[in-house]
Amino acid sequence: MIRYYDEEHMFCLDTEHCSYQFEIKYGRYLLHRYYGRKISSPIRGIAGRNLGKNYSSLHPDYEHPEYSPDMELFEFPLEGRGDYRNPAFRGRRKDGSPVFDFVFSNYTISNGLIAAEGLPSVYSENLDNAETLDVVCRDDHTGLELHLLYGVLPEYDAIIRWAVMINKGHQIQTVERFMGFCLEFPDSEYDMITMEGAWAREHHQKRRTIGTGTTSISSTRGLSSHQYNPSAIICRKETTEDSGEAYGFSLLYSGNFRIEAEAGPYGTLRCLMGINDDTFSWNIASGASFTTPQTVFVMSSSGLNGFSQKFHRLIRERIIRGEYRDRERPILLNNWEATYFDFDHKTLVEIADSASQMGMELFVLDDGWFGNRNDDKSALGDWIENKKKLSEGLIGLSREIHQRGMKFGLWFEPEMVSPSSRLIKEHPEWVLGTLEESLSLGRNQLVLNLALEEVQKFIITTLTSILNESEIDYVKWDANRSISEYSSRKFSGDQQGELSHRYVLGLYHILDVLTRRFPHVLFEGCAGGGGRFDLGILAYMPQFWTSDNTDAVSRLKIQSGASLFYPSVSMGAHVSDVPNHQVGRYSSLEFRSSVAMSGNLGYELDIRSLSEEEREIISYDIAFYKKWRRIIQYGKFYRLSPINSCCGVGENEEFSWMFVSPDEKKAVLFWFRRLHVPSVPPSIVRMRGLNTEFTYLETNLGETFKGDELMYSGIVVPQPLGDFTSWIAEFSAV
Ligand code: GLA
Repeated sequence: MIRYYDEEHMFCLDTEHCSYQFEIKYGRYLLHRYYGRKISSPIRGIAGRNLGKNYSSLHPDYEHPEYSPDMELFEFPLEGRGDYRNPAFRGRRKDGSPVFDFVFSNYTISNGLIAAEGLPSVYSENLDNAETLDVVCRDDHTGLELHLLYGVLPEYDAIIRWAVMINKGHQIQTVERFMGFCLEFPDSEYDMITMEGAWAREHHQKRRTIGTGTTSISSTRGLSSHQYNPSAIICRKETTEDSGEAYGFSLLYSGNFRIEAEAGPYGTLRCLMGINDDTFSWNIASGASFTTPQTVFVMSSSGLNGFSQKFHRLIRERIIRGEYRDRERPILLNNWEATYFDFDHKTLVEIADSASQMGMELFVLDDGWFGNRNDDKSALGDWIENKKKLSEGLIGLSREIHQRGMKFGLWFEPEMVSPSSRLIKEHPEWVLGTLEESLSLGRNQLVLNLALEEVQKFIITTLTSILNESEIDYVKWDANRSISEYSSRKFSGDQQGELSHRYVLGLYHILDVLTRRFPHVLFEGCAGGGGRFDLGILAYMPQFWTSDNTDAVSRLKIQSGASLFYPSVSMGAHVSDVPNHQVGRYSSLEFRSSVAMSGNLGYELDIRSLSEEEREIISYDIAFYKKWRRIIQYGKFYRLSPINSCCGVGENEEFSWMFVSPDEKKAVLFWFRRLHVPSVPPSIVRMRGLNTEFTYLETNLGETFKGDELMYSGIVVPQPLGDFTSWIAEFSAV
């Protein structure tokens, strides 16, 4: 797995199909050499290609004038010593100098994965299936000791990178930028794919050619954000869903991040990822240390589908943890779009009655159950049930729901506070921002300073007592605004720069305590939809509300975009009413169900007003979903590219994907069309992941097909008339 080759001075990190190699040059510098498909020994050919090619005139190493930092590939690039590209680190020594010179010192290799202190980490369940390399570098001027950490999970083809800085000197040192992940490529002929958008249109796939200079995405919103997900894929221009190289990385972090891809002047590509330095600085006192978040990265040589499948498995088995990791997720009914703030005990029980009759398994009471919360202007922070609405209290309601054979879930937004709340009157100093400035409202609310221990304690004790008192099986943890004022009345001047990161550390501490204390509760993350859908959150909460946009047409792009990294089992997807509440669109119940059944199925509509026919459709869909749930939530997922592009139909109007069981004996195919176009040939979908030897029965058509035919020739999709149509096909090996 991890080997050091003495003669070549090379570290080789091998997974089942990939290799990562770097060299200790002249006993001092860590030069990146290779990342890609597996190579059985240290590379030699291109390793020294830049030595002696001094197009860039700076050579800081007098003994080795042939060494030119501006052209090299580094494991941890520094500034101020002849490399003019973006650095991984920036700091200021006590004397004001920004120059640091971290030089290789020693290394250790240990079994298993080491956790990043105070942060979510990828885990290995036993010591045999993973290894960690710790490479130590020292800066003699300051006494700073840099640990570059590499976790290797061979079976998952994954490598994890992060870094720790320990101050072994006598003076405090200030860090202004510290990217725990750097990945360099010897050429820059790549595209970069990211998941981007805004509220209600998250995770849209964006593919761009990397030009010269720096391509960057980031968040300063305090949350990883709707706008940019903290993940990216670097791939060749010719990479498609099914072929070509794809290198993807994602940060286990839920706050401000930055990803930079810099095509350097000498043809190289440098990718950096970590905490966003725009809102960050950190003072490391003598004897103290600082740990960066982890980045996990995976490489595939079989296209974007191959990449996504590796990443999905990694998330399902090495990031998500706890009782729900391997469990099928319940079909839920959420009352939000059915009632908003206007409900009472009787209404909720009526809704739950209908829901349980149709086979739903979890009833979720959303916003509005506490304090005087009748709109979004009040009561956040005052987490006491509203007895006018809940005459039997949470205890009575949760009992009645359980009596109907359903689980009971509850919405919280613990990080936020309404200006008129009792909490803020009692503790004005708990809010983010300083007194002198006016505080920005976001959805009429302010943000609590989670960096403060007393705030952490308040949230932990409040939720603990509610979860203990009532019978609660599920928590929806929401966060509905960005952070704006990065300051605190309780922080000293030189601590203010630490606030954005301390907030995230505070959040992780709270989540760590609560998820350990309530292992049987299913936590679902939410941030106005997908505003904080990242690996950091998934390490605590096994699923996320993908988007506040429940319109099935919009969801096609949202869910297929998110599927680049995130497995279907992590994505909440609900059937809602028409006209849709976010975009006003009408689409059929069949279409809405098919889209929602591609993730963790839920319903978010007033089911009391459904017609008999609609109730029947829903009951049928629920039974169908239960039959396929294991495969949809835990099987292999393929995005299928439409092969009919006549009049742009395929590219623009059709979406298709499928799920296959691990033994390849069962598969379910979903096909969707947005607008109908006349006079075009019927669509053909070529399936993936089947067994060429197997014969499959498609149960709805009642016809059998060989696996090779379905994959190489394809299946013709029936062409229903109308817009927003879908087709589901079920295949079982006979
Ligand atoms: C956010 C969530 C919604 C709902 C509302 C309640 O917008 O994303 O699903 O819970 O808050 O206020």
